[in-house]
Amino acid sequence: MSPAARRRPFGVVTRGTTNPNRLRRVDNWIVATCADRLLAADDPLVVDLGYGATPVTAVELRARLAAGVRPDVRLVGLEIDAARVAAAAPAADPPGLTFARGGFELAGLRPVLVRAFNVLRQYDESEVAEAWQTMTAALAPGGVLVEGTCDELGRLASWLLIDADGPRTLTLAAKLTTLGSPAELAERLPKALIHRNVPGEPVHALIRALDDAWQAAAPYATFGPRQRWLRAVTRLRETGWPVLDNPTRWRQGELTLSWPLPAGGAGG
Ligand SMILES: C[S@@+](CC[C@H](N)C(=O)[O-])C[C@H]1O[C@@H](n2cnc3c(N)ncnc32)[C@H](O)[C@@H]1O
Repeated sequence: MSPAARRRPFGVVTRGTTNPNRLRRVDNWIVATCADRLLAADDPLVVDLGYGATPVTAVELRARLAAGVRPDVRLVGLEIDAARVAAAAPAADPPGLTFARGGFELAGLRPVLVRAFNVLRQYDESEVAEAWQTMTAALAPGGVLVEGTCDELGRLASWLLIDADGPRTLTLAAKLTTLGSPAELAERLPKALIHRNVPGEPVHALIRALDDAWQAAAPYATFGPRQRWLRAVTRLRETGWPVLDNPTRWRQGELTLSWPLPAGGAGG
């Protein structure tokens, strides 16, 4: 369906589960890696799509962007559930923070950046491509969509950076002090990947390789989980995985790779 034909908010109401601070990992990554796009924009408009039963994570994203990127950032929280839009009204702080009803069509807005977290998780995998296409078609030129999933408290998270041509990067992120093994991240992959963690799929090879690298880095645990993670990520890169960024980001418990992943895994 063309965007013009779509006047009603596109999508369905799903569970509104959210939690303060659960999205801090992706927010900090957005501040660190997407700042240039926002700084270059005439209208630094950001959409938080599907903020849930309370707008707390939208409030937090706006505060992090205002403090870390530019104070005049404008964040609009969009929700498909009208009752959740009404419930968010007391948290509004216009013009920097407002709430409105909308779906994947983005309610006619043209944002530079959309964060859609824990939204597609409750859809069918077959619905993902159209949702991505609808959101990216609504972006301002050069805009991006950050679409991902996390656990209840935000200790495990993953997200894709998507533009009009499709996914560009995949990021895995974990609270290292509570991480048993990177294989735990497989349960929190974005919807497009969560059913792909099976032999023969690149993301399965990636999780295996990261887990192997983490096991091989066990001696570094003496120096703390951060040093162990740094070693594991370095090893992944040495073995040919398209690891991006540098130790400043890796130290946060992050791993970002360019997308698509190599078809048969690194060296495949
Ligand atoms: C699980 S909550 C996520 C809340 C928050 N983003 C977080 O991660 O903590 C998902 C929310 O997305 C909303 N939602 C689902 N599909 C949507 C769509 N197409 N457009 C806007 N909101 C949507 C649901 O109504 C629900 O409130």
